[in-house]
Amino acid sequence: MDTDNRPAVGAEATVFETAFLGRDAVAKVRSPKGYRHPDLDASIRRARMRNEVRLMRDARRAGVRTPVVYDVDVEKCTVIMERIEGEKLKDALDSSDLSLAICAAVGRAVAALHDAGICHGDLTTSNMMLAADGGICLIDFSMGKSAATAEDIGVDIGLLERAFASAHPGLERQYAALIDAYMKKKKRPEEVLKKLEEIRNRGRYT
Ligand SMILES: Nc1ncnc2c1ncn2[C@@H]1O[C@H](COP(=O)(O)OP(=O)(O)OP(=O)(O)O)[C@@H](O)[C@H]1O
Ligand SMILES: [Mg+2]
Repeated sequence: MDTDNRPAVGAEATVFETAFLGRDAVAKVRSPKGYRHPDLDASIRRARMRNEVRLMRDARRAGVRTPVVYDVDVEKCTVIMERIEGEKLKDALDSSDLSLAICAAVGRAVAALHDAGICHGDLTTSNMMLAADGGICLIDFSMGKSAATAEDIGVDIGLLERAFASAHPGLERQYAALIDAYMKKKKRPEEVLKKLEEIRNRGRYT
C-alpha cells in the first residue's frame, strides 16, 4: 500500500497541452507536496512516475491502448506523452448513443490488461478516454502494478463497479455490458467472480 493518503483524484498531478518534436503532446507534472517531508515527497513522486511510465508501456505491449511516452524528466517529475484526441469517458458516456458498445470495449480492454498481469489501481471513467477514432485508451496508471494477483484484479473490478455506479447512476445496463464483455474475454473469469464475491462479503461484515 501507499505510505500516504492519496488526495482527491486529480490533485496529484497537473496535465497540460504541449508539443514534442512537432507532435501534439501533454505534459503530466507532479509538483512537490508541502505536506510531505521533501525527500519522501521526491521519492514518492518519482516512484509513481516511473511506475506509470512502465505500466503504460507494458499495457500497450499487451494490446491495450495507452498514450505513448515521448520523454521523461526525472528531476522535474514530468512525463511528456502522446495527446489523445477525444473525450474523457466520464463526459462522453452519458450522452453517447453508442454507450453500450463503448462499455463493452472498455470491458475487453480491462480484461486484456488483467490477463497481462497488470492491475490499474484507479479504474474510473475519468481515467479512460474515448479517442476520436472510437477506440478506448486507458490513462493514469500511477497506482497500478504488474504481477497482479487475483486479489489485485478483484479489487480493481470492485473499485470500477463502485466508481461507475457513483459517476453514472442510471447507466446500469452499460455497466452490465462492460462486465459481460470483460467476463467473456478474461481468462479464468470464475476466479474474478469468486474474488468479487469475497470482497463484497468482506465489506458487508467489517
Ligand atoms: N495523454 C493524454 N491525452 C489527453 N488528455 C490527457 C492525457 N493524459 C491525461 N489527460 C487529461 O488529464 C486528466 C488528468 O490526467 P490523469 O488522470 O493522468 O492525472 P491525475 O488524475 O491528476 O493523476 P494522478 O491520479 O496520477 O495523480 C485526464 O482526466 C484527461 O482529461
Ligand atoms: Mg486521473
